[in-house]
Amino acid sequence: MANIYLVVGSVTGTALGVAEVLKQVIEVAGHSVVLDEHASLATLNSQSWDAVLICTSSTGKGEIPNNLMPFYNELANGASLLAKMKFGVIALGNSSYANFCGAANLMEQRFFELQALCPVPKVTIDATETTTPERDAKFWLKEFLAAL
Ligand SMILES: Cc1cc2nc3c(=O)[nH]c(=O)nc-3n(C[C@H](O)[C@H](O)[C@H](O)COP(=O)(O)O)c2cc1C
Repeated sequence: MANIYLVVGSVTGTALGVAEVLKQVIEVAGHSVVLDEHASLATLNSQSWDAVLICTSSTGKGEIPNNLMPFYNELANGASLLAKMKFGVIALGNSSYANFCGAANLMEQRFFELQALCPVPKVTIDATETTTPERDAKFWLKEFLAAL
């Protein structure tokens, strides 16, 4: 069974709501999970995680929500390589914005730079296409959990 760090970037609560649903699914599947709205390098380094899940919306012009930005910056400044860490990205956005899911792309890029492994390509959830983002995310999560 896996120990999963589920980090959230959310402005108006949609990504947080999705993450809360995912947390339940992860627990029902018998894994342990910590959902963190204020993710930090200290927490990342505090436990032996099997995987990090990043569930984030985008704000501004494809920017990372304020509550996830400190973690993003910490990952750039002195994080050691995450060479055997698996990660997955649940990207919430709206394709009517020029930089669709820009924040999730930035987070993904940073994890790749730290040499983490991405067993299942990120899922992008477009607010113009779905009103039930948690359903798309749950579908993707099953695939991710099977890859752990
Ligand atoms: C001010 C504002 C700026 C946004 N900018 C982007 C963007 O640049 N790219 C994108 O894909 N979505 C953008 N969105 C859409 C949100 O990411 C999307 O609605 C998401 O579901 C919101 O989730 P949240 O409530 O967790 O923040 C923006 C939304 C708002 C209100």
